[in-house]
Amino acid sequence: MNDQTLSNLLSEDRRFEPPAELAANANVKEEAYERAAADPEAYWETAAERLDWGQKWDQVLDWTNPPFAKWFVGGTINASVNCADRHVAAGNGDRVAIHWVGEPEGDTRDVTYAELADEVAKAANALTELGVRKGDRVAIYMPMIPEVVVAMLACARLGAIHTVVFGGFSADALASRVIDCDARVVITADGGFRRGAPSALKPAVDEAMEKVGDLVRTVLVVRRTGQDVDWHEGRDLWWHEVVGRQSTEHEPEMHDSEHPLFVMYTSGSTGKPKGILHTTGGYLTGTSWTHWSVFDLKDDDVYWCTADVGWITGHSYLVYGPLANGVTQVMFEGTPEKGSWWKVIQDYKVSIFYTAPTAIRTFMKQGREIPDSYDMSSLRVLGSVGEPINPEAYVWYRSVIGGDRCPVVDTWWQTETGQIMISPLPGVTAAKPGSAMKALPGISADVVDDDAHSVPNGTGGYLVLKQPWPAMLRTLWGDDQRFKDTYWSRWEGLYFAGDGAKRDDDGDIWLLGRVDDVMNVSGHRLSTTEIESALVSHPKVAEAAVVGASDETTGQAVIAFVILREAAGDGGPDIVEELRKHVAHEIGPIAKPRQIMVVPELPKTRSGKIMRRLLKDVAENREIGDVTTLADSTVMDLIKAREAESSSAD
Ligand code: WT7
Repeated sequence: MNDQTLSNLLSEDRRFEPPAELAANANVKEEAYERAAADPEAYWETAAERLDWGQKWDQVLDWTNPPFAKWFVGGTINASVNCADRHVAAGNGDRVAIHWVGEPEGDTRDVTYAELADEVAKAANALTELGVRKGDRVAIYMPMIPEVVVAMLACARLGAIHTVVFGGFSADALASRVIDCDARVVITADGGFRRGAPSALKPAVDEAMEKVGDLVRTVLVVRRTGQDVDWHEGRDLWWHEVVGRQSTEHEPEMHDSEHPLFVMYTSGSTGKPKGILHTTGGYLTGTSWTHWSVFDLKDDDVYWCTADVGWITGHSYLVYGPLANGVTQVMFEGTPEKGSWWKVIQDYKVSIFYTAPTAIRTFMKQGREIPDSYDMSSLRVLGSVGEPINPEAYVWYRSVIGGDRCPVVDTWWQTETGQIMISPLPGVTAAKPGSAMKALPGISADVVDDDAHSVPNGTGGYLVLKQPWPAMLRTLWGDDQRFKDTYWSRWEGLYFAGDGAKRDDDGDIWLLGRVDDVMNVSGHRLSTTEIESALVSHPKVAEAAVVGASDETTGQAVIAFVILREAAGDGGPDIVEELRKHVAHEIGPIAKPRQIMVVPELPKTRSGKIMRRLLKDVAENREIGDVTTLADSTVMDLIKAREAESSSAD
């Protein structure tokens, strides 16, 4: 693509019309917007009817006690039955549920729906034998292997609440989550494969268990890599032994629609991660419906979402949504090498592909020759999620990966929303590169100003949601007050998402990034304060301030400014590396600052508040903004000088 074609493609009002055939056969058509707006509850009821229920609901929505919503009140349902058993009962037991692609070359496995149903039943029996009961919490800390899906569905089957902790998080992060939700059982693996080599998980669990004391009675360990592990008799058990000996018969209980399904921790603007609580009926309705409509899912599609199950995208669009829809999907372990993703698309004839802008930008840098050498003609719909997709990356994705045939759906949503909220519909929307376009049918979103008034077209403001939706979070685990304060207190009756957004001249929505102290690095959510606390917990650090600076590949990058304690002197020659490692150990490698600057002072207002805005100017190499409110305006000169020194040393 030369510069001229690119700029033509990016011209302001550039839109991509849906392909004619897709439009003609689309699962959801234009009329849905009006129909849903006229009667949102009837619309969501249609969505819920695609699932198998025990008892049907007697009320679609109870919103008498906002912000605490109840969906499909009186209904009973089992998520695991919807994700496995019912497909077998419908005669699709031989259909592949998961084409699993392990990291070592050639390590692949296909799991059919019949096998999935059997494994889930066995795991449910095993958990029952281990004393897990309805309502108990189970922590899951696993690599991307089919057993993690089985473990989640087995919990769901019993009504036990899972909390999946991303395998890239540290022992500390695991421990704090286990403690917060009081989990008594942990399911893990000896390790997983990353970048061609086994990477251990079990030692992190052992370290976490030291921190949680004797709270956890059982650690169930899947053997994945075969590496040596320390064994704690009486606590540790092998998955293949305990699950392996169980029967494939398991009578599922139908749970109340509002029975908790899982807790997913996510970073907020304060240090302590928030436990986002999702319940069963509404969540399954919202995820399966949007998976079917936003990707225009058809029976013969092969779907692939590249997200890790440790994040909400993995929960909603790898496990619950797709499996409830009986889809055949790819599950990929490990890290992508050059071309390895495109080979998977070619080999498995993937037709729907869902990934993050940061990955697209990485591949863009490697050059189009690599994807061009694979046959990706099976693709028909492409999705993007996790952060704003810049128009250049969008156009490249559409053209180079999608062969200019496939619509790109830029899907905006959050851990809290559970389901996609703002997105084009591939058979309806003439989408613009870089815009998530508009709220899905049945969803009510708006961009408002400080006084909660809708902004006119051509103006920016805050993104809010105005009506409850089925997969919305129900509360924060054990903290109703924080739930209200965080999302519902800024304006009466509106859900505040924490994102800035703009309406263009046509009224379409463009997401502009977070307006709070939350950073988005490679589509992963990190809190500035959490990283600051991690830095300050190092003995040599007196104070720390963290900002997210824009980064060409990862969207944002973590930049830290630290003041050392007097006793630490200059910290020694390796101080920066030492602190980066410390952050990785406290939170996880994804939180490692790209750059750490040791500075003599931090810019503060007279009331002692750190002015992150000014640090961001430094981090992004911009002219320093207004310093008149600083208690000591010479501080910025000192920081700039230190920055100049550190960049010339690089
Ligand atoms: C935050 C939520 C949604 C699952 C993955 C991340 C940002 C997400 C988009 C998008 C612009 C996006 C927002 C949001 N975000 N998708 N398509 N365009 N921004 O879930 O970790 O809960 O993060 O990710 O800032 O608030 P999460």
